[in-house]
Amino acid sequence: TTPQDYQAESATIVQGLVESNHAGYTGTGFVNYDNVAGSSVEWTVTAAAAGPVDVVVRYANGTTANRAMTFSVNGTTGPTGVAFTGTGGWPTWATTTVRLTLAAGTNKIKATATTANGGPNVDRITL
Ligand code: GCU
Repeated sequence: TTPQDYQAESATIVQGLVESNHAGYTGTGFVNYDNVAGSSVEWTVTAAAAGPVDVVVRYANGTTANRAMTFSVNGTTGPTGVAFTGTGGWPTWATTTVRLTLAAGTNKIKATATTANGGPNVDRITL
């Protein structure tokens, strides 16, 4: 099937802001996670069938410190501590891929910051 993009600015954001002040994002902006552990973005996505899916997270991290995040699917935690390393600048976007196991139909994919710096700036996920 054709990959689908799910923009972060259209997701459910807890402790974060939609911003557009760094170029290179897709859609209408990106999410700037608050600089606090526990800040999160949750997407609602649709899967045609149950099973593992590679989820491509497009992000920027203008610092040199890893901004690790933990993922959950439909409230079940994992993988934890996924690295979002520095991309060289806030307008420089990169991707990290996480393999998540989805149910058939509607799923909630949540990415939660685990460090006091919060998450990276997140543009979208693609799956
Ligand atoms: C800067 C940058 C933001 C980023 C923030 C951070 O303020 O402009 O886009 O989110 O740093 O450290 O998280």
